[in-house]
Amino acid sequence: MKIFKRWTPAPLLYSACICLQLTACSPAPAPGNAAIPTPTATLAGTTAMTLSIQHQSFGQLADGREVSLYKLTNANGVALDVTNYGGIITRLVTPDAKGQFADIVLGYDNLAQYVENNPYFGAIIGRYGNRIAAGKFALNGTTYQLATNDGANHLHGGVQGFDKKLWDAKTFQQQDAVGVVLSLVSPDGDQGYPGTLKVEVTYRLTNSNELQMTFVATTDKTTVVNLTQHSYFNLAGGGDILSHELMIPADRITPVGAGLIPTGELQDVTGTPFDFRSAKAIGRDIAAEDAQLKLGLGYDHNFVLKNSPDSQLVFAGRVLEPNSGRVLEVLTDDIAVQFYSGNFLDGTLTGKGQTYRHRSGFCLEPQHFPDAPNQPGFASTVLEPGQTYQSRIVYRFSTQATKE
Ligand code: GLA
Repeated sequence: MKIFKRWTPAPLLYSACICLQLTACSPAPAPGNAAIPTPTATLAGTTAMTLSIQHQSFGQLADGREVSLYKLTNANGVALDVTNYGGIITRLVTPDAKGQFADIVLGYDNLAQYVENNPYFGAIIGRYGNRIAAGKFALNGTTYQLATNDGANHLHGGVQGFDKKLWDAKTFQQQDAVGVVLSLVSPDGDQGYPGTLKVEVTYRLTNSNELQMTFVATTDKTTVVNLTQHSYFNLAGGGDILSHELMIPADRITPVGAGLIPTGELQDVTGTPFDFRSAKAIGRDIAAEDAQLKLGLGYDHNFVLKNSPDSQLVFAGRVLEPNSGRVLEVLTDDIAVQFYSGNFLDGTLTGKGQTYRHRSGFCLEPQHFPDAPNQPGFASTVLEPGQTYQSRIVYRFSTQATKE
């Protein structure tokens, strides 16, 4: 995330900027990061298709407001379904190394289940992603009390966070990409946060098999902002994710105490189950005798990608599912990523013909540090009037030959 004093141009112009940016400043290797290949990712067996956008109804909310579903497809058959309810990615279909297509995200195929019981499947998260201790923070001498919707703490923006808002939506089509721009006005006092926050999130699906997401926000009062995307992935399309091979180029985490609130320290990952600098199966060390794993009920921790905020796009993680050969690379200009191994999934939720059992999905949520408003040692998430909050996340899809 970076905060800077300038007004952001309109979407079409906007995405041009993004392209320019991506090519102009291809991400410098972060610690332990291999050079990032240019996105020539090939997807085996993909048949020539065309970029397309379909718009259909996704039902109505209890107050009668219409909800939409946008079905985007690129020229390689990668398909993305997004609803303007919570900006939720409800379906993401990519081919495996043999060209077989499958849906690689957890979620539902109807609005009712998202309204009723959604553990943030595929949603835009805000105003503040992750936890704030006791739901409380002070700004310029004023203390703000937020909902405590996660035990004694505040999680993911509160009871009615951005994941439960109805966003305005506009689609766009370009030479090499299709997309949707979602916008929202979160009023002063929304969920207890100060300031009217104007937010715009752009999803852009390209023919080079990337989903590029940009988050932009401005405010009329001093406030705090930390936006992210909360997709749960299973690159096999089902089963658990313990044999997925994960690499995270981070040499430190922020350890947590009770309630998963950071202690304020930075912990070196060397010699701990949190060392993912070389790819390993998610399940290899997940049951190790480790205090942090116990607190997280598995992996549910903030991995540090940068020493300080800048606009460099860096690797946040790379995941290979060895049987299908599917690869997901996550890139971001944010300073950290929350790796969550689906510890709260317990088989009570079902969707799209699947039962979501324990650890049947994982999340890589680029973000600023949890509880930063209360942690002077952490990079600031304060946004002032006249400044623009902007962050980027890229999901890059490819395949790798499988071991026969
Ligand atoms: C994040 C949190 C987890 C959990 C999930 C959603 O990943 O870190 O503790 O709350 O969201 O359920």
